Amino acid sequence: MAYVTATEMLQKARAGKYAVGHFNTNNLEWTKAILITAQELESPVIISSSMGAGKYMGGYKVVTAMVKAVMEEQNITVPVALHLDHGNYEACYKCLDAGFSSIMFDGSALPLEENLAKTRELADKAHSMGVSLEAEVGAIGGEEDGIVADGECADPAECVKLKDCGIDFLAAGIGNIHGKYPDNWKGLSFETLENITAAVGDIPLVLHGGSGIPDDQIKKAISMGVSKINVNSECQWAFQKATREYFEAKKDLQGKGYDPRKILAPGYEAIKATVKYKMELFGSVGKA
Ligand code: 13P
Repeated sequence: MAYVTATEMLQKARAGKYAVGHFNTNNLEWTKAILITAQELESPVIISSSMGAGKYMGGYKVVTAMVKAVMEEQNITVPVALHLDHGNYEACYKCLDAGFSSIMFDGSALPLEENLAKTRELADKAHSMGVSLEAEVGAIGGEEDGIVADGECADPAECVKLKDCGIDFLAAGIGNIHGKYPDNWKGLSFETLENITAAVGDIPLVLHGGSGIPDDQIKKAISMGVSKINVNSECQWAFQKATREYFEAKKDLQGKGYDPRKILAPGYEAIKATVKYKMELFGSVGKA
């Protein structure tokens, strides 16, 4: 199956009260782990590249070719959307050109009017190419590719304005943070989520910062309209831990050279386990 836009899978998730996992990829191991796990669990999936990861992998066209080739060679038949995570204006156009099926325009750091104008333009352009568009209001806290923001709760009136630009799904800050949650984190603001849902209706909502949020809060957010949950850090932590343990266990091999396939195998398995855990938690298993 060729990859699809994220719109249909997220509308189905919104109606069915589950969420589709958005997993960031960084390389071939990440890509295989995400896609093969989705296939094993018969789950729809959104695989995404940040701007930094796209640069690291050699450009967005490399990402497109890699994802397409893995899908073909590994017989991936579940719905897969290839998505740009937190793109700026230029990156959105590059990913449309590279053949992504979904993009996120993150204009949350821009003045609202500029964010709205660019979002409107990108919605028209993306839709004319059969691509879905996510947009953001109320900066997500933490750091993503060098973009730092304090945790914020989005203003429902601004959410409506962004929705009216014709976007397909909305990322709105509800106290969520990228990376590690601080010990004094107050948790998700369900009051904000309730107010946003009341204002924007049934457009699928996106929860960024999906790593490290307690499972009960994730489930509650899904029951209140969150249909896409972004996970990056937990895969990185799992990969790092597994790789470190591998090196600890293989100390006697030092100086003898390493086979990269052996070094990367434990990390690959660790990402698979993380993706599986999240898909089960989000309720997307069997929904392909
Ligand atoms: P985490 O850092 O919590 O995994 O969040 C990732 C994310 O939201 C990517 O957009």
